[in-house]
Amino acid sequence: MAIRKIQVSILILAITVISCGHCSFTPTDHYLIDCGSLNDTTIGNRVFQADDSVSWTLKSSSNNLANISENMVPSYYGMEQLFQNARVFTEPASYTFQIRKHGRHFIRLYFFPFVYKSYNLTAASFSVLTQDITLLNDFRPPLNVIVKEFSLIISSDTLSLSFAPSTNMSIAFVNAIEIMSVPDNLTVDDESIIHPVRTSYQGLSGQALETIYRINMGNQSVWPDDDTLWRFWENDQKYLISKTLSQPFSYRGQISRNDGVSEEIAPDIVYATATELSDFAQTTLSYSVNITWQFNVDAKSSYFIRFHFCDIVSDAASSLLFNVYVNTWLADGNLDLSERTFRRLATAVFLDFVLEADDVSDILSIKVSPGNALHGDETPNAILNGLEIMKINGSPSSGQTSGTPTGSNKNFKIILGSSLGAIAVIIIAVVLFFILRKKRPAKQYSKTWVPFSATGLTSHSTITGTSNGIPSMDGQNGNLGYRFSFIAVQEATNNFDENLVIGVGGFGKVYKAVLRDETKVAVKRGNPKSQQGLNEFRTEIELLSRLRHRHLVSLIGYCDEKNEMILVYEYMENGTLKSHLYGSGLPSLSWKQRLEICIGSARGLHYLHTGQAMAVIHRDVKSANILLDENLLAKVADFGLSKTGPELDQTHVSTAVKGSFGYLDPEYYRRQQLTEKSDVYSFGVVLLEVLCARPVINPTLPREMVNLAEWGMKWQMKGELEQVADVRIARSIKPESLRKFGLTIEKCLADSGAERPSMGDVLWNLEYVLQLQEADGGDSEINSINRIPELAPQVGNISTMENTPVVDDSTLLNDVTETSMSKVFSQLIKSEGR
Ligand SMILES: *[C@@H]1O[C@H](CO)[C@@H](O)[C@H](O)[C@H]1NC(C)=O
Ligand SMILES: *[C@@H]1O[C@H](CO)[C@@H](O)[C@H](O)[C@H]1NC(C)=O
Ligand SMILES: *[C@@H]1O[C@H](CO)[C@@H](O)[C@H](O)[C@H]1NC(C)=O
Ligand SMILES: *[C@@H]1O[C@H](CO)[C@@H](O)[C@H](O)[C@H]1NC(C)=O
Ligand SMILES: *[C@@H]1O[C@H](CO)[C@@H](O)[C@H](O)[C@H]1NC(C)=O
Ligand SMILES: *[C@@H]1O[C@H](CO)[C@@H](O)[C@H](O)[C@H]1NC(C)=O
Ligand SMILES: *[C@@H]1O[C@H](CO)[C@@H](O)[C@H](O)[C@H]1NC(C)=O
Repeated sequence: MAIRKIQVSILILAITVISCGHCSFTPTDHYLIDCGSLNDTTIGNRVFQADDSVSWTLKSSSNNLANISENMVPSYYGMEQLFQNARVFTEPASYTFQIRKHGRHFIRLYFFPFVYKSYNLTAASFSVLTQDITLLNDFRPPLNVIVKEFSLIISSDTLSLSFAPSTNMSIAFVNAIEIMSVPDNLTVDDESIIHPVRTSYQGLSGQALETIYRINMGNQSVWPDDDTLWRFWENDQKYLISKTLSQPFSYRGQISRNDGVSEEIAPDIVYATATELSDFAQTTLSYSVNITWQFNVDAKSSYFIRFHFCDIVSDAASSLLFNVYVNTWLADGNLDLSERTFRRLATAVFLDFVLEADDVSDILSIKVSPGNALHGDETPNAILNGLEIMKINGSPSSGQTSGTPTGSNKNFKIILGSSLGAIAVIIIAVVLFFILRKKRPAKQYSKTWVPFSATGLTSHSTITGTSNGIPSMDGQNGNLGYRFSFIAVQEATNNFDENLVIGVGGFGKVYKAVLRDETKVAVKRGNPKSQQGLNEFRTEIELLSRLRHRHLVSLIGYCDEKNEMILVYEYMENGTLKSHLYGSGLPSLSWKQRLEICIGSARGLHYLHTGQAMAVIHRDVKSANILLDENLLAKVADFGLSKTGPELDQTHVSTAVKGSFGYLDPEYYRRQQLTEKSDVYSFGVVLLEVLCARPVINPTLPREMVNLAEWGMKWQMKGELEQVADVRIARSIKPESLRKFGLTIEKCLADSGAERPSMGDVLWNLEYVLQLQEADGGDSEINSINRIPELAPQVGNISTMENTPVVDDSTLLNDVTETSMSKVFSQLIKSEGR
C-alpha cells in the first residue's frame, strides 16, 4: 500500500513538473482573438475570444464577418476552428491593444482565404502595419492556411494593428490574431553573433523579426500546446534533401539545459529529436557527406538563423564532431557540443548566425557533416535538432553592421584572407552560455587566460590586440584552443625557469609548466632569433588546431603577445618513445606494449595522411617525436615541419630536404620530392628501432652496423631478423608475429615510394602482428618451442651522434640536449633547423 501511495505521489509530482513546463511562462500581455467569430473558441489549453471583446477596440467602418464549414479547412496543428471565420475589411481598419509590458512581443496572424457570399478572400491583397512598422506589404495569402509570426519590440503603451487593402478594389481579412509578450532575452543583442566575412552583427535585440521557418528535426512536428510560447515547429522532412543520407532519431531520456537555454528558447521535444547521419551513410560512406536542408527565401533580406543542438546520439563526450554550414559558409567546424555543455550529453545549446542580404540567394541551404578531426574510433556522425530562420525586418541596412570595426574585427578579416584564402568563410555566432559567460570564465579557468573560442567572444577586453602580425582568431570556430596571456605563461613556467626545460630544438626551448588550474602542459617558446619564426608558428597553430586525433599531441593554446611565439601543448607524462627504448635506463617495454605504441602512432600518421582534404605529411617521423601519455598511449608530436601534401594534380611537394638523418627516405633525399611515402619510410625505421632498441645511427659501431635501416634490412633479407631483436624481449616475440613485423618493415623501407604501402596498410599489418602475437597457444608453450636465439649483438652503447643532422648543425646540439634531458619528460623537440 505504502509503495503504491509513493508511486502515486511520484506520478503526481511528475505530472506537476511536466505541466509546469507550460505554466512556467505567463505572458503579461496575451491577446487571443478568433476574428469573425461570435463565440469564444478553445484551442488546446487556450481560449481565443470572439472579436467583439472589450479588451481591445476595433475601428472599422464596416463589420464584415465570413465563415465556412469546418471540413473545408486543411488540418493545422489542431487549430482548424480558428480558420473557419474571418473578419473582412473593405477599407482600412485597425485593432488597438493596451500593452502593459514594454519589450519583445510575438504577433501571430492567421490566414486562410476562402469564398463566402460576395467576399472572395482568395483575391485579397493588403498590408498589415503597426504604428511603427509594416509587417506585411501587399500581401496575397496563398491558398492554404498560413500563420505569420512576427517578433518585435513594443515600447509604447498601445499597439495598433492596421489592415489596409492594397487598392480600393481589393479587400483585407484575418482569421485570428495572437499578441503576447515574450522574454526580452529570447534574442540577445550581442557581439557574439557574427556575420560571415563581415564584422560582428549588432543591434539584433531591437530588430523586428519575421519567422520564416521554424523546424524541428527528426521528422516530428511540435504542436503549440507543447511549447511554452505556443510556437509551431514544423517537421523537417519536406526540406530534407537526399533522404538516404539521414535518419530521424529520438531520445527518451531527460534533456538537460545550459544556463540561459530556457524552455522559452525551445521546448524539450525539440532537443530530444534530431536528424542524424543515416546508418547507411555512417557505415558505408564514412566521412564525406552532408545532410542538407533547403529553404526558399527572399534574396533581398537579411536572416537571423538559430541552430538548436543537443547531443542525444553519442555515448561519450567529445565523440561527436561535426561541421555546420550555412550555404557555403562554415558556420562552425568540428563543433564539439560537449565542449559547450561541461561535457554533459543530452544538454541543450543553441548557436546564432546572421546572414546579410548581400549574401543571400533564393535558396538557403543548411548542412551538417561529420567533422574531420575525429579521434579515430568513433563512427562519423552529424546532427541537427532544431532550426529557426527569421527574416530581419526592413532593408538590409537595418542590421547595423558595425561601421567602426575594432582591431579584432580587422584581424578577423585578415585571418580569413591569409589562412583560408579564397574560401569565403565562417563564422559563428554563439550566443550559448550567455549567462555562463558572466559567471564562468573567471571561475573555471585561470583568470589570466582567456578562451578565444567563440564562447569567449564577449571577453574582448581581456584579449589583447595582436602582435607580430599574427591575426587574432577571435570568432574562428571554437576548436582552435586558447590564447594565453604572456603573464599566464610566465607564471606557469616560473618565469621560464631553466630547471623546467625539458627539451631544446631549432624552434626554441620546451618547458614543463603548470597552469593555475593545475593542468600540466608543455610550453614551447619560440626563439626570437629563430629565422623560421613566424611562418612555422603559424603553420603549427593552423595545422595543430585543425588536426585533432587521439594519437596526435593536442595543441592547447598559444601566446603571441610581446612578439612571443609560444605554443602550449598537452603534457605527455611518459616522454618520448625513444627514451623507453634505449639510453635512459627506463624499464623495458614488452613486445605487446611496443606493438600497441606502433599501432597508435600509425593511426596518428594515417589520420595525418587521410583525415583532411589535403594530406598532411609529417616529414620528421622518428621515435623522439612519438610521445607517450601516462597510460603509454602513443601520440605523434611536432608538426612544425609538416607540409601540406600533394594537391590533386601534383604527385609530390617539392621542397628543401628536411628531416632527421637515419630516418630519411633515400628517394626523398635523392629527388627532393616529398610524398606520404616518405613518412612511411621513416616509420619503417621507427619499427626497426622499436624491435632492436638501438639508435638509428650509431657511428661508434662497425661500419655495416652504423645505419640501423641498412643493417636491419640485411638480416631481414636473410630471414633472420630475430638476430637483431632487443635481447630483453626477443624470447617473448612469437615467430609468426615477428615474421609479419619484419615483412611490414621491409615493405616500408622499399626503395621506391610507389612500392611502399600506405599508412593505412601499415596500420592494418601491425594490428595483424599484434593478433598473431596474442593468438591462442599459450605464451609459455610457444616460447618454449620456438625460442628466438639470443644472438643479438650488444648495441647498448649510446652515442650522442645519432640523428646526425642533414641540414643544420643545430640538430647535433639538440640531440645532445635531448639525450641529457630524456630521462623523464615529454619532449617536443625540433631536431633540425627551421
Ligand atoms: C455562441 O454564443 C451564443 C451566445 O452568446 C449562443 O447562443 C450560441 O449558441 C453560441 N454558438 C455556438 C456555435 O456555440
Ligand atoms: C456564418 O455566420 C453567419 C452569421 O454571420 C451565420 O448566420 C451562419 O450560420 C454561419 N454559418 C456557418 C456555417 O457557421
Ligand atoms: C476569387 O478570386 C480568384 C482570384 O482572383 C479567382 O481566380 C476566383 O475565380 C474567384 N472566385 C470567385 C468565386 O469569385
Ligand atoms: C480608386 O482610387 C482611384 C484613385 O486612387 C480612383 O481614381 C478610383 O475612382 C477609385 N475607385 C473606386 C471604385 O473608388
Ligand atoms: C516521418 O514520419 C512520417 C509520419 O509519421 C512517416 O510516415 C515517415 O516514414 C517518417 N519518415 C522517416 C524518414 O522516418
Ligand atoms: C531570460 O529571462 C528569464 C526571466 O525573464 C530568465 O529566467 C532567464 O534565465 C533569462 N535567460 C537568460 C539567458 O538570461
Ligand atoms: C558540404 O557542404 C559544404 C558547403 O557547401 C562544402 O564545402 C563541402 O564540400 C560539402 N561536403 C561534402 C562532403 O559534400
